[in-house]
Amino acid sequence: MVVIAWKDEFCTGNPAVDHEHQQLIHGINSVCEGIHDGPPDDETRDRLGDLLAHITAHFALEEAVMREQLYDEYQPHKDDHEVLLDHIRDIMCAYEAGVFAGRREDFIKRLGDWFGGHFGTLDARLHRVLGQAPDPVAMKISKIDLDQGKNEINVLLTTHGK
Ligand SMILES: [Fe+2]
Ligand SMILES: [Fe+2]
Repeated sequence: MVVIAWKDEFCTGNPAVDHEHQQLIHGINSVCEGIHDGPPDDETRDRLGDLLAHITAHFALEEAVMREQLYDEYQPHKDDHEVLLDHIRDIMCAYEAGVFAGRREDFIKRLGDWFGGHFGTLDARLHRVLGQAPDPVAMKISKIDLDQGKNEINVLLTTHGK
């Protein structure tokens, strides 16, 4: 059973971004499909941790590009990123507590709603507005640090090959 199936409505209009988004969904599917209740094991715990790190890095990069480009809808977009991170943290907590299976349907619905609402609307608008601006997927993180006061991850971007 696939937790989140890719849909055309998730497309942003940028094939490289869509590819990255497909990888995120694949990561969620491969971790969540295999979760069963029982004593938590280190491998699943690591995979959940890797998934959270992957999604966090994707968001940090997108948010850095938005700040750099003075994107007008930065804050609501960032707030919606936090919603998915909260969902993933909730899944991790449920797994640790051994109650994931009983909440599986609720988690799947929340994840499905988020992906349906974020990729095809907020990310699609972002990449449409950025137009010729640097493509987040073509950038790489050269420095990263956490500003705990502002609850922000600061990222210094460089373009690949430069
Ligand atoms: Fe986004
Ligand atoms: Fe994105």
